[in-house]
Amino acid sequence: MQYRRCGNSGIKLSAISLGLWHNFGHVDMLENSRAILKLAFDSGITHFDLANNYGPPPGSAEENFGKILKEDFAGYRDEMIISSKAGYTMWDGPYGDWGSKKYLVSSLDQSLKRMGLDYVDIFYHHRPDPDTPLEETMAALDLIVRQGKALYVGISNYGAPEAARAFEILKGLGTPCLIHQPKYSMFERWVEGGLMDLLGKEGVGCIPFSPLAQGLLTNKYLHGIPADSRVAKPHGFLQEGDVNENRINQISKLNDIALTRNQSLAQMALAWLLKDERVTSVLIGASKPSQLADSLLCLDNISFSEAELNVIETILH
Ligand SMILES: NC(=O)c1ccc[n+]([C@@H]2O[C@H](COP(=O)([O-])OP(=O)(O)OC[C@H]3O[C@@H](n4cnc5c(N)ncnc54)[C@H](OP(=O)(O)O)[C@@H]3O)[C@@H](O)[C@H]2O)c1
Repeated sequence: MQYRRCGNSGIKLSAISLGLWHNFGHVDMLENSRAILKLAFDSGITHFDLANNYGPPPGSAEENFGKILKEDFAGYRDEMIISSKAGYTMWDGPYGDWGSKKYLVSSLDQSLKRMGLDYVDIFYHHRPDPDTPLEETMAALDLIVRQGKALYVGISNYGAPEAARAFEILKGLGTPCLIHQPKYSMFERWVEGGLMDLLGKEGVGCIPFSPLAQGLLTNKYLHGIPADSRVAKPHGFLQEGDVNENRINQISKLNDIALTRNQSLAQMALAWLLKDERVTSVLIGASKPSQLADSLLCLDNISFSEAELNVIETILH
């Protein structure tokens, strides 16, 4: 494993982090979730990413993670960076969604109970709230750190201008933003329009989520939709329409380039993100240990020739 410094902070993260959005809920098999987590930690992954609503049902990924932590990771808490978030709908009524101080503080209290933890390492605001003043949401993050319930704070899905304001407010409060979690992959490149430059300039880490575009940037959909894939699952967030002809064309051409690099497409897609030093860690998912084992090998080659980058650009445009 390689470890990279997160922005200007004192914290290093494993270049690959494991997310528990899919495959860790009560609808999934606990023994499979356990095997993925054990392989991750044994391979040097130190960072595990959760949110209040991961499951399904919402909350169940944190519950399962808490159970596995207690049963298999006792004694290893200080070797782990565990994150959670609040920002999407979690419970009924006006206090279980968006970005009020009431929601964030209560939600983290619930998350800590579900995971059986005293604190999380990183607590994120999961998405910008157009109605709550940014000052209130950032003050909630600062309060949570002062309460000892999180060591660091982050934001996710914030565009560059609102992220810049959030960083300024947090700095003023004395709780600098550690990290930003945007969607970023070969197929989703909005961050290149200003956010990456801002993160580099401000010394804030970057952890791209869905770096494999939920599995599209692998070889799995090249010959149809496998029965055990995210697209085929009723609760999966990837839809059949996402696997269209244009995408399959691109995937097939990218797969050919990956083969010339002696990489799987998943490995090349992750390496392509990690070539940028501003990317602290790629936040992957896995539905089986073998996928994680495959993805981990991306670290064997994260450099690209000019010619390779040019061909990739042509395919993506
Ligand atoms: N902040 C946010 O708003 C936000 C939003 C989404 C995600 N996230 C975070 O990002 C994490 C990762 O998201 P993601 O699961 O969408 O990431 P991803 O890495 O893009 O996709 C993971 C999925 O791709 C397939 N896969 C993974 N490795 C493979 C391999 N080597 N070969 C073939 N297929 C492979 C598996 O799907 P199958 O089920 O098809 O096997 C796996 O579940 C989440 O767990 C969460 O922590 C954050």
